[in-house]
Amino acid sequence: MRDAIHSILEQAIHAPSGENCQPWEFVARENSVSVYNLPERDNSLYNFRGRGSLVAHGALLENISLIAPTYGLRADIALFPEGEEARLIATVSFSSADTYVSPLVEWIPRRATNRKSYEKTYKLTEKERELIRNSPLSEEGEARLIEDEASRKELARAISLNERIIFENYDLHSFLFSHIRWTRKEEAEKGGGLYIETLELPPPVAGGFRHLFWRWRVLQALNRIGFSKFVALQNAGTYFSSSAIGALILPGSSPLHFLRAGRAIQRMWLRLTSAGLSMQPITGLVYLRERIVSGEPASLTPLHQTLILRSYLLIAHLFKVEDACIGMTFRIGRALPPTASSAHFSPNIL
Ligand SMILES: Cc1cc2nc3c(=O)[nH]c(=O)nc-3n(C[C@H](O)[C@H](O)[C@H](O)COP(=O)(O)O)c2cc1C
Repeated sequence: MRDAIHSILEQAIHAPSGENCQPWEFVARENSVSVYNLPERDNSLYNFRGRGSLVAHGALLENISLIAPTYGLRADIALFPEGEEARLIATVSFSSADTYVSPLVEWIPRRATNRKSYEKTYKLTEKERELIRNSPLSEEGEARLIEDEASRKELARAISLNERIIFENYDLHSFLFSHIRWTRKEEAEKGGGLYIETLELPPPVAGGFRHLFWRWRVLQALNRIGFSKFVALQNAGTYFSSSAIGALILPGSSPLHFLRAGRAIQRMWLRLTSAGLSMQPITGLVYLRERIVSGEPASLTPLHQTLILRSYLLIAHLFKVEDACIGMTFRIGRALPPTASSAHFSPNIL
């Protein structure tokens, strides 16, 4: 069974993670595996209380449970066996079962974040909408979609405030640039990060990224003539070019809620991929807002805090969210395939 467990993990690590940080490590035994979080892999301001990493682990666990039956195994997953604050995310016990190949398994290595512009005029079919809405189970949250043009435009503007702040906040800016990988070799050496081609930057912007925008002082000079606001506007245009902007609304904000949300997001993403649709999480703003309302704004300036809270109010209003928590915002549509995919590296199995 040990070989099968290794094979399952090799495939399961094709899960999304913030900045492709792949924050996992495994301890395999004869018929079980323990999944550990590596918090040091993602210390971004976005990863407030490790929630982004928990979403990533949820996606990973969903992959494990989909792949296991391919090897005639059933995966019983015990979440947080040592409590929600421990590094041990789950223990997965495997037992013999009928062999079954889920139709979603073939899409696991083909799922990717697509940051291209999507077809502006493509309207989701009722079947596609159902696919998205039915992906979360009741305890995992509820997927809501916004498709009408006026609301999508407002949402795209509100969400893209994140990109303005990235270029105005020193910590977010240095985190982004320290996670960009300029070559495949660098991506492999560092075991993850954002390979530059996956960002889908037009050539002049990619040149700017490489030579100018990583320099904080240069950037601040450019910001005085509106550069960061221009970047946000460009991104708003890309986000608007989607059939729908969606949100996964969670019943609570505990670690367990975020872990379960990750399972739902992965299932939804695989179903969308199998239906020929593209997806991009665009969730920085809602994660930053969680920091502020929890009284831990870190280096966010009072101006940025006000802007974030204001944008969030609009997002919450459009998605009709009152007390609930937004686990992720994302966009969906039809598009050409991504220019490049992020690499996922062999699991560290102890
Ligand atoms: C919790 C979470 C938050 C993410 N937020 C964003 C985001 O705001 N913008 C974005 O472009 N991608 C976002 N991503 C996508 C990751 O960057 C992506 O999964 C990672 O780079 C690996 O690439 P892949 O999804 O193509 O495998 C997020 C992923 C996760 C799991």
